[in-house]
Amino acid sequence: MLAGLKEVLMQATRDKRAIAAFNVPNLEMVKAAIQAAEELDVPVILQHAEGHNSLISLEEIGPIMMDYAKRSKVPVVVHLDHGKSLKAIITAIKIGFTSVMIDASDKPFEENILLTKEIVKIAHSSGVDVEAELGHVFTSSLGGGEGREPDDDLIGMNDDIYTDPELAKSFVEQTGVDCLAVAFGTVHGIYLKEPRLDLERVRQIQQKVEIPLVMHGGSGVSKEDYHVAISNGIAKINYYTYANQNGARAIRQAFEKDTKGEYFLENYLAEVTGALKEDYCKALKIFSE
Ligand code: 13P
Repeated sequence: MLAGLKEVLMQATRDKRAIAAFNVPNLEMVKAAIQAAEELDVPVILQHAEGHNSLISLEEIGPIMMDYAKRSKVPVVVHLDHGKSLKAIITAIKIGFTSVMIDASDKPFEENILLTKEIVKIAHSSGVDVEAELGHVFTSSLGGGEGREPDDDLIGMNDDIYTDPELAKSFVEQTGVDCLAVAFGTVHGIYLKEPRLDLERVRQIQQKVEIPLVMHGGSGVSKEDYHVAISNGIAKINYYTYANQNGARAIRQAFEKDTKGEYFLENYLAEVTGALKEDYCKALKIFSE
């Protein structure tokens, strides 16, 4: 069944667990995410990043996400991830998404506030919840995007990259957002070195704001770090890259198994869906423990 982001995250906070938010830019990922959540009987967030429009457009995958969510036995939030343009945000709301992210984290603080406030006004008037980002979560050079990892030296420092707890308080009060993505050392994409997270910062932010916090760059974080992050206030974990890689590895294994050389595409795609489901189940279990 279709669910709202705020209600699902508030419940997760009370249960001291996090809800997985899987980016699903193809049908195999949509199916596997729903199957995994149903098997474990937990809520899940299906999300489409505006930046993934190059893989499949929001107009194509959005209605499919909505259809699977409505038919699911578990609560499913359908969310726009990293909304950068008003057009994408309006399109997601029109398709029926229950929440949107406005990502103005690359803008100066005051501009981020103004843009976020505007989106909150539009989205809330349609009953749609809003995630925003303060601080900046980088993208690994192996994962594409901005192409640099944060410097180890920056960890523990109050600067534009890592979310400042005082600024977070002011941002949340001024914008009225429903949840906040915070920067504390995670990176989108593949880690080039072991992540060193400033988990204490998450706790400090949580003490200043009353809304659930979001971890971006959820791939490659250790089980221990996930658990500390959750107990410090993270209620939504965005997870994509490692599932994506595991799906690709399944194709390679399917080739090796296909000794007769039949090469039926449906068999390969079934292997991909199975591998994705296994990976999603693992993540859902860790985030719910
Ligand atoms: P990963 O690709 O690092 O798992 O991060 C996903 C994400 O944060 C999407 O917004």
